[in-house]
Amino acid sequence: METVKKLAVFASGTGSNFEAIADACADGRLDAGVVLMVCDKPGAPVIGKAEARGIPCFVFSPKEYPSKAAFETEIVSLLDAAGVDLVCLAGYMRIVGDVLLKAYEGRIINIHPSLLPAFKGAHAVEQAVAYGVKVYGISIHWVNSDLDGGRIIAQRAFEYDGNDPAEVHRIGQKIEHALYVETIAKLLK
Ligand code: GAR
Repeated sequence: METVKKLAVFASGTGSNFEAIADACADGRLDAGVVLMVCDKPGAPVIGKAEARGIPCFVFSPKEYPSKAAFETEIVSLLDAAGVDLVCLAGYMRIVGDVLLKAYEGRIINIHPSLLPAFKGAHAVEQAVAYGVKVYGISIHWVNSDLDGGRIIAQRAFEYDGNDPAEVHRIGQKIEHALYVETIAKLLK
C-alpha cells in the first residue's frame, strides 16, 4: 500500500501558496495531504482558505506566549501528533527558532521571493526593485538557523525591466505556485 505523505503548511497572510499546495494534494498532483495549517496571525486570509478545505488549523498569537520556545513547543507537539513528514513554510513571516529546528530540521523548507543568496529577509522584492535588478526569481531552500541561508533546493528566474514591485510580485507568485508543488513532489519521491 502506498503511503500518503503528510504536510504541514505555515503561513502568515494571504495563503496563495498554501492554496496551491492544498489543491495539488486534493487533485492528486501531490501524493500527499495537508494535515495541518499553522498561522501566527489571527484574522489572516489563509485561515478561511484552510477552513473551507476542512484542513485543521493552529492559529496563535505569539504575544500571548512567554517566548518563541513556548509556542514552538506547542507547534512541535501538534506536528508530532499529526505525523507530519514535511513542513512547508509559505509566507510564514517569522524566524524559525531552536525548538522547531531541533525537532524538524531536515524536514522544513521555505519559499522566498528572490534568487538567494541575494535579498534575504523581509521585503525581498522591494529591495530588488530598489536595486534595479533585471533578473528576478524564486528560491526554495532548506530551513536552518541562518535566515534564508539553508541549502537551495530549487530556483526559477524571470526577467523584468521595470520598477513596479506589485508587478514583480504578480509574476513571481505564479512561478511560486508551480515551483513549490513541483519541488514538494520531487522531495516526496
Ligand atoms: C510569498 O510570495 C513568499 O515568497 C513570501 O511571502 C509570500 C506569501 O504569499 N515569503 C517571504 O517573503 C519569506 N521571506 P502567500 O501568502 O500568498 O502564499
